[in-house]
Amino acid sequence: MVTRADIGVIGGSGFYSLLDDATEVEITTPYGPPSDVVTVGRIGGRSVAFVPRHGRDHRFPPHRIPYRANLWALRSLGVRQVLAPSAVGSLRAEIGPGALVVPDQIVDRTAGRAQTYYDADGVVHVAFADPYCPSGRAAAVSTARSADWEVTDGGTLVVIEGPRFSSRAESRWFSGNGWSIVGMTGFPESVLARELALCYTSISLVTDHDAGVEAGEGVTHDEVLSFFATNVGRMRSLVADVVAALPEERTCPCPTALDGLKLPFDLPG
Ligand code: ADE
Repeated sequence: MVTRADIGVIGGSGFYSLLDDATEVEITTPYGPPSDVVTVGRIGGRSVAFVPRHGRDHRFPPHRIPYRANLWALRSLGVRQVLAPSAVGSLRAEIGPGALVVPDQIVDRTAGRAQTYYDADGVVHVAFADPYCPSGRAAAVSTARSADWEVTDGGTLVVIEGPRFSSRAESRWFSGNGWSIVGMTGFPESVLARELALCYTSISLVTDHDAGVEAGEGVTHDEVLSFFATNVGRMRSLVADVVAALPEERTCPCPTALDGLKLPFDLPG
């Protein structure tokens, strides 16, 4: 029975069947419980822990996801590399539904989410110039290409507070700034991973053209859910292949993200 893991996946509930020899681990953290029980198992030779981002029954809207508990729980189980598949809207006409984007930058347009572990007992400023793990990104891009996905290597993800979608003016402003995709969950997930010195890779599946790009009425909830549901099987096998392609040894800068900083507590796991 596997109860520790090297790799974490935070994704939709369609990812449950990803794991072999799966065991459920109930875990609490100083930030409360994660979105749901964590499932730990194997994919090939790698041990993997899975957290359903919105809860098993999809009860947490993006602005209420317990992001701090999710990342803390994964690190407590031994996880050091995190893959984050998610649904996003495209801000570019040339990137259509069904395409993948592996972003290399992020813009935070969220408001009021708990976005740090370091909010008391001292000052800790983590570097976030390059928010994503270069090794994880390379593994995701090359795996997607080998599986014949249309994939964009790089680009900026803008994360909105939600749960509403963007207005046409907001969306046009985002695309006019050169940003590529828009989502609701990539922040603070990515920065919390950095604050725990974890590798973090976003694997973004485009489900729609956002309002400013689309000629029609703008995106709807049903459009996003049904597109994601149709593609979840394909995404699941892609994530399994990316797990296999992740390097066992971390030679990226992520493990040293906290070097030289005075942390107010010991990191878990
Ligand atoms: N998730 C999927 N599509 C989206 C969109 N257009 N805006 C924000 N989040 C999304």
